[in-house]
Amino acid sequence: MRVVVIIPTYNERENIVALIEAIQIQFRHLASHMPAARPGILVVDDHSPDGTAERVRSLQRGSSGIHLIEGEKAGLGAAYIRGMTHAVEVLAADVVFEMDADFSHRPEDIPRLLETIVGGADFVIGSRYVAGGSIPADWSWRRRLISRGGNVLARRVAGLGGVRDCTAGFRAIRTDVLKRIDLAGLGVKGYVFQIALLHAALRAGAQIEEVPVQFVERAHGASKLGLSDIVEFIRHAVLLRLHDSQTFIRFALVGALGVAVNLGVFTMLLGLDWNRYLASPFAVELAIASNFMLNNFWTFRRREKKDPFHLRGLKFNLVSIMTLCVSTLAFVLTARIFRPLSPQICQLAGVLPASLLNYILNSRWTFGEAQARAGSA
Ligand code: GDD
Ligand code: MN
Repeated sequence: MRVVVIIPTYNERENIVALIEAIQIQFRHLASHMPAARPGILVVDDHSPDGTAERVRSLQRGSSGIHLIEGEKAGLGAAYIRGMTHAVEVLAADVVFEMDADFSHRPEDIPRLLETIVGGADFVIGSRYVAGGSIPADWSWRRRLISRGGNVLARRVAGLGGVRDCTAGFRAIRTDVLKRIDLAGLGVKGYVFQIALLHAALRAGAQIEEVPVQFVERAHGASKLGLSDIVEFIRHAVLLRLHDSQTFIRFALVGALGVAVNLGVFTMLLGLDWNRYLASPFAVELAIASNFMLNNFWTFRRREKKDPFHLRGLKFNLVSIMTLCVSTLAFVLTARIFRPLSPQICQLAGVLPASLLNYILNSRWTFGEAQARAGSA
């Protein structure tokens, strides 16, 4: 199991050497407790003017397992996206850590996060806001407000309600999860990366766990979190919400239109003296066909679908047959059990279970999202 601790740095000259050495001590402990873990460190420096990269290079000369990539400064999120891509594609990592360079995240906590991964979790958060976790007692009201506010936005607006510390920057993540996410496509640059990645991981079906950590205030250097990060954070939290509800609203609208097609065609066929047991599945089938086209070209049009169009069509037809069976069964049952009900009411009785099944199977299976990179998972 290849484990890579990713450390983004911008002007961390006073911290980086001591931090790498402290992490290496933890690696030595791991070697006896967890020999399968083959750990390494990846520093992602953005040409820090204070010469951080130079310090890392001098450490590289004396020990192995320290990697460094350098780029233009574009923000914390942009640095992580580059770092994670490198860890997966070049270093073949199975697990990556996110970790700050300023000792806010204690190296002693690394083994505990890794054990939780080994225990079966996909995405482990070193959490300040679960029992046993903490923030520094002397944090200013401004710092508390930013941290709490970020979490309120993430939980209430971006829809990450199940997680206590959504903005935490200390995490262990299985790269199986990262391979299912289009990192560059997240469309973020700054600190909001933390909630954008968490949101995507949840959508990719990752099992998230929080383990308590004590967040320590940095002793050297200064925080890089600026106003533009806060603006991007708020904007993106709202975007995540809109994006989620947009898909849902569109699917519901398409569904409603399908009901109209269904009932309209059904009534028309009854007017043409069709047998009602034949008219029912026929009307449903027509409604399903129009729903597919609308969902394919409208509801899920932005998704990077994993299957080609013809396979989607095939899957859709299989889902349609299941939906048709459920709907017809509901129709027959209601018609038999409640004889005095009009055929239209009986037809409607099939709509709810059928459309629920339709949504779940089509959203996850037919229109399921592609893995980020071909051949990686
Ligand atoms: N390469 C690179 N480029 N690194 C950066 C950049 C950047 O643009 N901006 C920040 N970093 C690095 C810092 O050098 C540090 O190692 C780490 O990212 C965290 O940056 P800080 O500036 O120390 O962040 P913070 O202490 O304000 O924020 C911490 O808490 C937040 C939640 O309250 C971090 O853990 C965040 O990830 C977290 O969201
Ligand atoms: Mn910090």
